[in-house]
Amino acid sequence: MRRRAPYDAALMTTDHIDTADFPHRHLLGIEGLFPNEITYLLDRSEAYVEQNRQADKKKSTLRGRTIINLFFENSTRTRTSFELAGKRLGADVINMSVADSAIKKGETLIDTAMTLNAMHPDVLVVRHPDSGATKLLSEKVNCAVISGGDGSHEHPTQALLDALTIRRRLGDLAGLTVAICGDVMHSRVARSNIHLLNAMGARVRLIAPRTLIPTGIEHLGVEVFYDMAEGLKDCDIVMMLRLQKERMQGNFFPSIREYFHFFGLDYEKLANTKPDALIMHPGPMNRGVEIDSEVADDFGRSVIREQVEMGVAVRMACLEILGLETGDGDMRNL
Ligand code: NCD
Repeated sequence: MRRRAPYDAALMTTDHIDTADFPHRHLLGIEGLFPNEITYLLDRSEAYVEQNRQADKKKSTLRGRTIINLFFENSTRTRTSFELAGKRLGADVINMSVADSAIKKGETLIDTAMTLNAMHPDVLVVRHPDSGATKLLSEKVNCAVISGGDGSHEHPTQALLDALTIRRRLGDLAGLTVAICGDVMHSRVARSNIHLLNAMGARVRLIAPRTLIPTGIEHLGVEVFYDMAEGLKDCDIVMMLRLQKERMQGNFFPSIREYFHFFGLDYEKLANTKPDALIMHPGPMNRGVEIDSEVADDFGRSVIREQVEMGVAVRMACLEILGLETGDGDMRNL
């Protein structure tokens, strides 16, 4: 197994934060971030991995700050880890889901944003089923907005936690070959990972049935395969994606059985990768659909649980960097 690259040791303590290293008010996507900014976020996250393994996990970095988790879509991992991350940094964290909000009574996204904005939050973490909704919201509020996923557009913190997981296992991302397999069409995880991996010098392959590959995606600098054996050949990482049925209109494949036969990750298909290739999945997993249960639980190669652990550290780094930046000026004219 390769060794990980040395990091900037100064960044790996949780004590010194220089927000000039990440000169952005919001984190809405990975597209457009520079490699040094991504590295900065990952280095900051690294410090929190160690802290999260201690008995005392709490810091007071964001004491007095308010974080609102505003989720218009279901979530287990992302919402819980943002909540934990905020609490471990000493912030007050409020969770709002659509089921409990006035959205159900017909309030628009902008009206909801305006209402929350009036309560002076410092960070809004937003997940929304429409691509671009987080950007729209960020233009209407005074606080920092972090995307927890917008439609099939981007899911920046997922790509960051994936990168942290890979980096801790294999070192530098540059030069690695990563295969992203499955429902690329509807996946914000795939899009954010494509941007991040390309920025960091990794090679990205997409493997899926033709119906689940968006036309023109090659322009993002990826290689497209329609056959698992071919696409997985000599890969360092295999990233599996869930079939996002909730975003599908119509039939994209004949049956689950056939899908698993051709595109489900099992040991036979995995035999095409490098011998120590890592298996990843953002969750939630559908065992027996995109991934065989034994492969998912393969102790030596599956890093799926590690991804969840890294999620808390990455979200702490993002909240800390953006949460410290906010100064509450005049409220915008909404
Ligand atoms: C992903 C998402 O919501 O985009 N899940 C996650 O955040 N871990 C992937 C998915 O829902 O399949």
